[in-house]
Amino acid sequence: MTKSISSASPRFWDQRYASGQTPWVVHSVPAALRGFLKRTKTRGAVLIPGFGTDHLVLQAFQTAGFKVTAIDFSKIAVARTKNALGHFECEIVLGDFFTFDFGKRFDLIYERTFLCALHPRRWRRYAARVAEMLRSQGTLVGIFLYGEETDPPPYPLSKSIAAEIFGKYFRLINDVKISNSAPIFAGMESWQEWKRADHGEGEARAKKSQTGSKISAKRR
Ligand SMILES: C[S@@+](CC[C@H](N)C(=O)[O-])C[C@H]1O[C@@H](n2cnc3c(N)ncnc32)[C@H](O)[C@@H]1O
Repeated sequence: MTKSISSASPRFWDQRYASGQTPWVVHSVPAALRGFLKRTKTRGAVLIPGFGTDHLVLQAFQTAGFKVTAIDFSKIAVARTKNALGHFECEIVLGDFFTFDFGKRFDLIYERTFLCALHPRRWRRYAARVAEMLRSQGTLVGIFLYGEETDPPPYPLSKSIAAEIFGKYFRLINDVKISNSAPIFAGMESWQEWKRADHGEGEARAKKSQTGSKISAKRR
């Protein structure tokens, strides 16, 4: 793993894509996502942050009837995805998920290996940002990494930290262990659905829980 450049920099990811060191790439739509798309009644706008080269996932959402917006800050990933998709009715953004002005909110946000690519000190910001970008009662769905990692990234969550960062804005409504992960994530992935509280309610809870944080100051 390249240690000289921070994984918070697009250069880190460009280097990984250019050198083919991409063990997270699966070249298929995860079975858990396929199952979700079959059973969900949710439709509307979906945001896919840090989509990488996952063009099949973008297509799967569009085929299921969603209006797709996807963002990644790696030039190489964006170029490869655009190239693989050809003419495709969706918004593919080269930009930073944390600062880009999407100009709207979404019904759904799909997560896979984006959160675990971020250093834990950015997780609160991630939770606040996905909460900001979802409509009231929107849902953050996807595949979340749990466990221990001696040589991060990826940075896995623990159940208590997930409850702490998401609990301010979200309620966990589905949580299923995944059995068919890519080898580097084997035994560590869960499909989860986090339902966003109404906007006023989420912010009030966020304020209330600002006291008593469990993530140590060192990790922020
Ligand atoms: C481990 S890859 C996951 C790619 C994809 N989700 C998948 O499952 O194949 C993490 C991706 O997040 C992107 N990324 C990291 N930080 C980002 C940020 N702040 N804004 C946009 N993209 C970011 C990287 O460029 C990289 O493509």
